[in-house]
Amino acid sequence: MVWRVTISYAALEKAGHAAVKVKDRVVFIAVVNGRLYAMDAVCSHSRCILGELDKEKLTVKCPCHHAVFDLRTGEMLEPPYVAPDVPKEKMKLQTFNVRVNRGFVEVDV
Ligand code: FES
Repeated sequence: MVWRVTISYAALEKAGHAAVKVKDRVVFIAVVNGRLYAMDAVCSHSRCILGELDKEKLTVKCPCHHAVFDLRTGEMLEPPYVAPDVPKEKMKLQTFNVRVNRGFVEVDV
């Protein structure tokens, strides 16, 4: 794995979260109470881009069929409202180490 530069920490802090193309994937990056999180941004159900962050629960909801993922672990906490093609345990999303370096958010992809 290699640390890859994404967006500035200032931009992320202002937006709260962002879906950023990193190498050959899209990563959902968030900062909550000063702590950084990074997880696959492409939903494992039908490949929509995740986008609804719940800062209290540290979850992200897919806008397409409302599957909910744990931002810390990538686990699917609530299934989509239409039947998934794969078992729930296979719908877990990958999470990544993330850091700030010289003002930019870097993800270990
Ligand atoms: S594409 Fe995400 S829940 Fe269906």
